[in-house]
Amino acid sequence: MDTAIGFIGAGSMAEALIRGLRGAGMDGAQILATNRSRRERLDHLRISWGIRVTPDKAEVCGSARTLILAVKPGDLAQAARELRPHLAPQHRVISVLAGVRCASVERHLDGAPVIRAMPNLPAAVMASATALAYGRRVGGDHRAAAVSLFSRLGQTVEVREEALDAVTAVAGSGPAYVYLFMEALIEAGVQAGLSPIVARDLALQTVYGAAKLVRETGSDPGDLRRRVTSPNGTTMAGLAALEEGGFTAAIGEAVRRATRRATELGR
Ligand SMILES: NC(=O)c1ccc[n+]([C@@H]2O[C@H](COP(=O)([O-])OP(=O)(O)OC[C@H]3O[C@@H](n4cnc5c(N)ncnc54)[C@H](OP(=O)(O)O)[C@@H]3O)[C@@H](O)[C@H]2O)c1
Repeated sequence: MDTAIGFIGAGSMAEALIRGLRGAGMDGAQILATNRSRRERLDHLRISWGIRVTPDKAEVCGSARTLILAVKPGDLAQAARELRPHLAPQHRVISVLAGVRCASVERHLDGAPVIRAMPNLPAAVMASATALAYGRRVGGDHRAAAVSLFSRLGQTVEVREEALDAVTAVAGSGPAYVYLFMEALIEAGVQAGLSPIVARDLALQTVYGAAKLVRETGSDPGDLRRRVTSPNGTTMAGLAALEEGGFTAAIGEAVRRATRRATELGR
């Protein structure tokens, strides 16, 4: 029971985490998942990732000490009602629900220790940017277990809970901003005469390589940008167009609005 992980909710976030854990070498027999009613969804997870699935929350709680709550915020009350009778003092609950405070999940679960995690979809390939925050009842061993779990899925930072809405706006929603940028780059490449396949490959490798260079050199992105921008060169012309189009301001506004929305959804 100590090392097994039980997913309450078996949707896209649960699958991203399960896929990442399997990729990181976790034994499928140590991962359980349950959902509300869709048996075929559980079968899909069992067949795709070799994990154990069950419609029975008692079975998940009996096998796993760490429970990952991955339902939509609107389904929390019902899921918690069904979970409560099976919780024991040794359980810890990791909630990935966007916007829902630890205190609220704790109340629904009669005071079980609750950790809030905000992973993002690249967890599926062990490249998540995950932030963790802790409820009042979370002790050192629970923290260490959560950090160790999410570190298998990528990079982990610990933040105050108040910062999680901003984390959601930057990192939770962030992959979608990057995908939009990639879509635009591919489309512009095609309009400039490249084949769709070549444009896609170039855009993908450029985003990947740019991030890898920051990661591996530890350089500031601004420094790298200045280094590739020679006076009156092509990059300078392109960057000028981006700024005329309000690129930096638009990203600032995207993060502000997504933060506000995360706060609203949590109410
Ligand atoms: N997607 C992301 O990038 C992302 C990132 C960070 C956090 N999150 C958070 O992750 C959570 C899940 O999001 P998602 O996109 O994975 O949602 P989803 O695909 O709709 O999956 C929700 C899952 O919850 C299950 N569920 C609902 N009520 C339940 C109950 N009473 N008992 C057990 N399971 C129940 C559903 O089962 P049925 O299918 O049987 O109804 C389904 O498997 C959300 O709270 C979201 O805020 C998502």
